[in-house]
Amino acid sequence: MAKLPIVKIGDPVLQVRAQEVPKITKKIAKLIDDMIETMYEANGVGLAAPQVGVSQRIIVVDPGEGPVALVNPVIQSAQGEDIDVEGCLSIPERWVYVKRATEIEVTGLNEKGKPVRIMAEGYFARALQHEIDHLDGILMLDRSLGEASVEELEEAEEQEPSESLELQVGEGE
Ligand code: NI
Repeated sequence: MAKLPIVKIGDPVLQVRAQEVPKITKKIAKLIDDMIETMYEANGVGLAAPQVGVSQRIIVVDPGEGPVALVNPVIQSAQGEDIDVEGCLSIPERWVYVKRATEIEVTGLNEKGKPVRIMAEGYFARALQHEIDHLDGILMLDRSLGEASVEELEEAEEQEPSESLELQVGEGE
């Protein structure tokens, strides 16, 4: 694995719609490994491929129990709404309040190309929505309802996201 440089706000790759991944090749699997390492090195809870300069529909998120990778993720349903604080590895030293759905269902492929379905709540649902936004060229600042402090972010992240995770692999096969 290798740590990748993180692209910062102002780079056009963060503002365009990323491409679908047609096939999970060895190169894609390596990219996912590198993205996971990069996320942990940067102390992030999620990372999208455009943030490492790759305009493809891949995200990694850690709901608190290890990394989850999703290729070509699609939000199938969303319920509820909640306003809380987010940060972004591409937007250093800024934290903003964003309104997100509180419960979502997401489908996609895992790093092995298997179809997966994720039911997520709370901060994990928030992180997934933030990362999927990156695949559509949308940044948290585009949805900002106001600036926050880093302490407010830490409070938000301290919720227990792992309890809300339900992951099904092989759905629809
Ligand atoms: Ni971000």
